Amino acid sequence: MKPIELMLPQDQINRRVRELARQITLDYGGETPVLVGVLKGCMVFIADLMRHIKMPVQVEFVAPTSYKKAVRNEDDLTFLGGFSTELKGRHVLIVEGVVDSGRTITLLHAKLKPLEPASVEVVTLLDKPGSHRTKVHLKYVGFSVGNEFVIGFGLDNTQKYRNLPFIGRLLDT
Ligand code: IMP
Ligand code: MG
Repeated sequence: MKPIELMLPQDQINRRVRELARQITLDYGGETPVLVGVLKGCMVFIADLMRHIKMPVQVEFVAPTSYKKAVRNEDDLTFLGGFSTELKGRHVLIVEGVVDSGRTITLLHAKLKPLEPASVEVVTLLDKPGSHRTKVHLKYVGFSVGNEFVIGFGLDNTQKYRNLPFIGRLLDT
């Protein structure tokens, strides 16, 4: 295993996740929001976050897909499991592990819009504000980090390290 430097310890993440959940609970009041998790990076965060939200929520997932179209690679997102919730008129809360360029979030907004939700907001565990390439509005941010590659708590490096219970950086990449 490569050397890893601790960046955000587990107890600090847990405290912040509880704060985010408290704020979400206040903001959505009597509604039943639909959490839309962006796989796979969201998985640990969404599991912890939803258990601290004090009202009913529904949960759906999308997964990024990349396919070759003519000469370019095009990114897309697929709604998983047939997407069992009708989103029309519903309050949607996108749940991300990390926002980097902002492309995934922008793409997801475009996919959700024709489904006519009442609102669409974003909660992300990590944000890299210095890396945004598109204008994104992130209502809830756990931690802002620099333009560095981070792993753990669901985030991967070549599909590994998602199971680390903390956020760290790889030292020799
Ligand atoms: P964006 O579309 O550029 O905002 O990228 C978001 C996606 O890139 C995330 O869902 C992650 O899968 C991946 N990603 C970006 N930065 C990191 C990182 O530092 N560690 C792990 N995955 C990352
Ligand atoms: Mg990845």
